[in-house]
Amino acid sequence: MAAVLPLADLKQQVRPASWMNSIIKGDCVAALEALPDKSVDAIFADPPYNLQLGGALHRPDQSLVDAVDNDWDQFASFDVYDAFTRAWLLACRRVLKPQGTIWVIGSYHNIFRVGAIMQDLNFWLLNDIVWRKTNPMPNFKGRRFQNAHETMIWASRDAKAKSYTFNYEALKASNDDVQMRSDWLFPICSGGERLKGADGKKVHPTQKPEALLARVIMASTKPGDVILDPFFGSGTTGAVAKRLGRNSSASSASRIISMRHPPASKQSSRSARPNSRF
Ligand SMILES: C[S@@+](CC[C@H](N)C(=O)[O-])C[C@H]1O[C@@H](n2cnc3c(N)ncnc32)[C@H](O)[C@@H]1O
Repeated sequence: MAAVLPLADLKQQVRPASWMNSIIKGDCVAALEALPDKSVDAIFADPPYNLQLGGALHRPDQSLVDAVDNDWDQFASFDVYDAFTRAWLLACRRVLKPQGTIWVIGSYHNIFRVGAIMQDLNFWLLNDIVWRKTNPMPNFKGRRFQNAHETMIWASRDAKAKSYTFNYEALKASNDDVQMRSDWLFPICSGGERLKGADGKKVHPTQKPEALLARVIMASTKPGDVILDPFFGSGTTGAVAKRLGRNSSASSASRIISMRHPPASKQSSRSARPNSRF
């Protein structure tokens, strides 16, 4: 199980051992300040979507849809969201190694703003990956297309970075010897993989599927790399890295550094303990 470090303690310690394979409790922008420059090989970020829901959503049978209406997804305006996005992306860029890459996942609500800010900050976009969901939620009102995908932006720290990690041959071998495409088909997280509380309800509203993270980590990291997740949530990134055996040996371990916001009112106690997965 990963150590959970209060941010105040971390700032007293500068040894890498204090933040490797750990979850740093606190706001990721502040937590990132405690990390050295150019110390991370890869970043997977699943930031707030800023869904701007205009009230409760019901199914045709009038049952309530369990939407993402958590405190952490509330922003007063696009300007506030953009300022937050710029702050965490800048902090990520500082800690990323020159040959490092970053993944950011989002929906139509936020990914275009995030992508523009990434380009403004001199990240170099390598691909956008469409995660097509095999089992998306219906559009209950029938007023729009069914929203059946999310987008992941994959970018290098600098335009000049040429030797970033991309495990092309491994991906091809895992894809019937055909070049891996930029549209990926995976189901949303459900069944036994979905973390649920004693009440049977899901513990985190946006838990990502492990298969998605597995492909991300397989594609862009190698054993021994340091992986950072600034928005750890239920801990999918850590769980997958562990399942892939990247924490198995001290000398060749991949390290996960993760940040978790203090539990908000709508975040359950189980999602506040992602270290149990990692
Ligand atoms: C979209 S979810 C990430 C879900 C995660 N990828 C998973 O598979 O469970 C975003 C998470 O970031 C957290 N969060 C929001 N703002 C944060 C901040 N400023 N610093 C750290 N974490 C934050 C939220 O509490 C939420 O758990």
